[in-house]
Amino acid sequence: MSVFAEEARIAERVVAWQARHGRNHLPWQQTRDPYRVWLSEIMLQQTQVSTVLDYYARFLARFPDVTALANAPQDEVMGLWSGLGYYSRARNLHRCAQQVVAEHGGAFPRTAEVLATLPGIGRSTAGAIAAFCFSERVPILDANVRRVLTRLLGFDKDMASAANERLLWGLAESLLPSQDLGYAMPRYTQGLMDLGASICTPRAPRCSACPVMESCQALKDGDAERYPVRTRKLTRRAESWHLAIVRDERGRVWLQRRPPTGIWAGMHCVPVFSDDAACAAFVAGLGDPSQRVLEELPPFVHVLTHRDLHLHPVLISGDVGGGALGEGEWLGQDQWPSVGLPAPIRKLLDATQARLW
Ligand code: ADE
Repeated sequence: MSVFAEEARIAERVVAWQARHGRNHLPWQQTRDPYRVWLSEIMLQQTQVSTVLDYYARFLARFPDVTALANAPQDEVMGLWSGLGYYSRARNLHRCAQQVVAEHGGAFPRTAEVLATLPGIGRSTAGAIAAFCFSERVPILDANVRRVLTRLLGFDKDMASAANERLLWGLAESLLPSQDLGYAMPRYTQGLMDLGASICTPRAPRCSACPVMESCQALKDGDAERYPVRTRKLTRRAESWHLAIVRDERGRVWLQRRPPTGIWAGMHCVPVFSDDAACAAFVAGLGDPSQRVLEELPPFVHVLTHRDLHLHPVLISGDVGGGALGEGEWLGQDQWPSVGLPAPIRKLLDATQARLW
């Protein structure tokens, strides 16, 4: 069989498999509205489907279209995102909505090339939106699809190299369906995602259930788990954060907005100190020392992509002065949901609140 015929067969098989065995009932698959598809793709970038479902429904109930989102205060957007993690996604989401309204008359661009100029939309997300909504003939290459394609093609070049990444994009393009694109492009795109999620898994792939097993180079070689090949490993760092939870006599907590860049940028958080001494100096300045209580809470680790945060919370309650403690504000429990709190901070505050009485 010629190479072209083989490629055409691969696309056809992925499309047919998707229709029969793929996921077809997710809420964002019941529409071609780019606002809804875009929102789902951003939420799904680092979060699993089961978690996204609730957030997606809540978000759409509050922001039914791109204009509603663009006009919302940032705190409200961050508040609705709270718990999903990777908060730069929420800030970019908001900026993207504002840009769609300001520069595109409130209508999402209809090509991957223009979509990729918007905040938070990389090449793969742009491809997914364009394929799902407009059936554009463009590839996607997220982590799951990279694994599927490198195995299928036996592409064993180092993915840490941008040149090799470009090569794989080219190969991904050559495998795209070439007929009946209106039907085939959304199905093919979803099919690759579904294969990556359910069959072509990082460990112990279920090759016998794969629609393209006959064409798979890695299966022939018996080394699927070797792919994708990447020499440079992610470097992780550990960092200690000392958290001062200052609670006044009314149960309100002193919260500050995090700086616009870095970890939890733009979210609300209790004051953070990089060492014990700095935290102790801050605490020493609060209210009347004989009338306040200081409790060290159990430390825990919060894992981010590049960092392990070792969190050391201290709860200071009783007479804490009650005035302003620099930049920030006193917020009661009823106000926490309306500002964005990172999930570990929200859990911590809920736990300390439960001990109030
Ligand atoms: N992950 C990224 N996009 C997805 C989609 N459309 N369906 C399921 N999982 C996804």
